[in-house]
Amino acid sequence: MRVSCRIVAEILLILAENVVPGVTTGSLNKIAEREAAKRKAVPAFKGYSGYKYSLCCSVNEQVVHGMPSSRVLLAGDILSLDFGVIVDGFYGDAALTVPVGNVTPSAQKLLQATEESLYAGIEAAQPMGRLSDISYAVQSYVESRGFSVVRDFVGHGIGRSLHESPQIPNYGQPGKGVKLKPGMVLAIEPMINEKGYEVEVLDDGWTAVTCDGGLSAHFEHTVAITDNGPEILTRV
Ligand code: MF3
Ligand code: CO
Repeated sequence: MRVSCRIVAEILLILAENVVPGVTTGSLNKIAEREAAKRKAVPAFKGYSGYKYSLCCSVNEQVVHGMPSSRVLLAGDILSLDFGVIVDGFYGDAALTVPVGNVTPSAQKLLQATEESLYAGIEAAQPMGRLSDISYAVQSYVESRGFSVVRDFVGHGIGRSLHESPQIPNYGQPGKGVKLKPGMVLAIEPMINEKGYEVEVLDDGWTAVTCDGGLSAHFEHTVAITDNGPEILTRV
């Protein structure tokens, strides 16, 4: 999994560097496929439950599962990039949200709080802790910053499949759920809204958006639990 996860991290970095006003989300999907092929990695999302693309590109009020298209990114947009690969049967999965050109201070705050909430969740993924310690760490951080936690999508175990048990909500009381043990690998992925937490899925069957039109951000790492604590695998 270190191999698949490192490749995901490398490719997300390349994608983020290519996010500038004027590019289309479809062109980013092409870059993701080219970079995966270079590394002999198989994009994990294409064909998953009928999804047709390798990358998820969620803009502004889109929460997750936005589809690459001819949409042109504009200065002031925020873009969530979610990408996964398979190498030798093992999955890696990660996401980040980046500003397109200059964005408003409140958008910057949302991105920062969402990324920091991911790190709070990762820090809580300690051997002998409980699953919901992660959930609680994310939620309390996010709400202290005045933002809200999406309920309808969750993080997940990951390994020989993209989605394995357990499901990892980003909200809840600590000390509940399965015991965390060395050897477990989790995809921790807070999805955080600027305003209310309610989301809905558009008629395309995929794109999740905020109900109130507020912005949404998403950061994700694949994390291994080791004897020495959490180890982020989706890192270059
Ligand atoms: N990172 C997302 C997840 O963990 C990506 C899934 S998109 C899909 O669920 F197309 F593969 F469904
Ligand atoms: Co995931």
